[in-house]
Amino acid sequence: MSHPKNSNFHLLMFPWFAFGHMTPFLHLSNRLAERGYSSTFLLPIKAIQQLQHLNLYPHLITFHPLTVPHVEGLPEGTQNASDIPIQFTYLLAAAMDRTRDQVERVIRDTKPKLIFYDVAHWVPEITKAFGIKAINYSVVSAASIAIVLVPARNVPKDKPITEAELLVPPAGYPSSTVVLRGHEVRSLLFISQPFGEGITFYERIYKAMKESDALAIRTCNETEGKFCEYIGSQYGKPVFLTGPMLPEPPKMPLEDRWVKWLSGFQPGSVVFCAFGSQIVLEKNQFQELVLGLELTGLPFLVALKPPMGAATVEEALPKGFEERVKGRGVVWGGWVQQLMILEHPSVGCFVSHCGFGSMWESLMSDCRAVLIPHLGDQILNTRFMAEELKVAVEVVRDEKAWFSKENLSKSIKSVMDKGSVMCSMLKENHRKWREMLNKGLMNSYVDKFIENMHELVN
Ligand SMILES: *[C@@H]1O[C@H](CO)[C@@H](O)[C@H](O)[C@H]1NC(C)=O
Ligand SMILES: *[C@@H]1O[C@H](CO)[C@@H](O)[C@H](O)[C@H]1NC(C)=O
Ligand SMILES: *[C@@H]1O[C@H](CO)[C@@H](O)[C@H](O)[C@H]1NC(C)=O
Ligand SMILES: *[C@@H]1O[C@H](CO)[C@@H](O)[C@H](O)[C@H]1NC(C)=O
Repeated sequence: MSHPKNSNFHLLMFPWFAFGHMTPFLHLSNRLAERGYSSTFLLPIKAIQQLQHLNLYPHLITFHPLTVPHVEGLPEGTQNASDIPIQFTYLLAAAMDRTRDQVERVIRDTKPKLIFYDVAHWVPEITKAFGIKAINYSVVSAASIAIVLVPARNVPKDKPITEAELLVPPAGYPSSTVVLRGHEVRSLLFISQPFGEGITFYERIYKAMKESDALAIRTCNETEGKFCEYIGSQYGKPVFLTGPMLPEPPKMPLEDRWVKWLSGFQPGSVVFCAFGSQIVLEKNQFQELVLGLELTGLPFLVALKPPMGAATVEEALPKGFEERVKGRGVVWGGWVQQLMILEHPSVGCFVSHCGFGSMWESLMSDCRAVLIPHLGDQILNTRFMAEELKVAVEVVRDEKAWFSKENLSKSIKSVMDKGSVMCSMLKENHRKWREMLNKGLMNSYVDKFIENMHELVN
């Protein structure tokens, strides 16, 4: 414990009302609590119930409930982004803005040394009056901030940004490989759309960063250093890195059913495929995916939500599929312990959508990585893994983000064929990164981050 004077160093956490933002903020609170730092965590009431079990230091981390005001157009009782269609999210931002009085009261009462926030761009307006420092904490990859959310991007206030403009990276952007291609830029058009009342997404985030005292990013210098440096110089702010802030590995052993099933196969032979808890595929895409796995001839375990319009995964499977893959292929519609499956010796390949969490789990595991991204930051994460770190293969997709079973099967076979040049190159690069990004390094990030916090307030 390098900082004994931490008992009066109280922190306030105020993440965006979405599970994917709340959990990394909470992991940060946990890691800081491990070193004696207390925090107050601002959350909508319903989220408190859902996150309680992830609070590993309840005597140091206090959840403070916020009442999310109703905003016209939002379904009654909405408290977070996961339960509303994406086109309503901008209204949830307006609701968050209307919690300002509640937030100001907590700041006055708890007198934190520092407040971490992301989407609430008005936080610095409050903290400046109290002489409290405010840190904009980003939970997405530095590459995805650097390509869209920097001043050099120059998003006009009064005219929607075009695909052609978005195809050109901002001046000084530090990579020629971690970019979006062709139609993929469409997924970024939202930045010039409203996000809250009378403010666009870009303006909001620009303000959140410009007015902060420092920028914190959930990444490592070893992997994304040049993007972090670029963001810091664009905004003229210090940049603090937390490392990836992965959750503590679960203490529960892998479910018996999977232990039994997986142990029937050779080491490193099984393909595991999962797309996280958010993605729901269209039925024909879902079928193409499982047919692609069948085509590899390898044993496989797929964990996916039922596709659109289906109640179960079973009813959505292609004709005769179950018979044909019997004994070597399983498609499972429920939740699985992803991290533990990746650690099982029989599993040799991980097919994922490359969300930020899965990207890190993939990087830290021993499995070959095959990536099929869906949305903007997943695409950038994928380019980063495939082109920059050269530890993964990206499945070829067409203009509609569609892939064929043949191309999926080809990608998987290319990384699983032990004799291939591709396979040995990926394996060697992956080993290098895995060794570098070890637990000791992750801990040193937390220590360094604490030093940064102290320097900022002194
Ligand atoms: C999100 O909202 C839904 C529906 O209101 C609720 O069931 C869920 O617990 C909420 N989750 C979080 C993390 O707030
Ligand atoms: C600031 O927060 C916003 C909202 O989450 C995020 O998009 C942006 O990347 C953050 N910036 C940094 C550098 O922390
Ligand atoms: C990353 O590492 C470089 C080289 O050691 C250093 O100059 C830079 O300050 C580091 N950046 C961050 C954000 O830690
Ligand atoms: C499959 O890959 C080839 C190139 O390897 C490409 O020409 C073709 O368009 C791909 N098919 C689809 C459906 O993406």
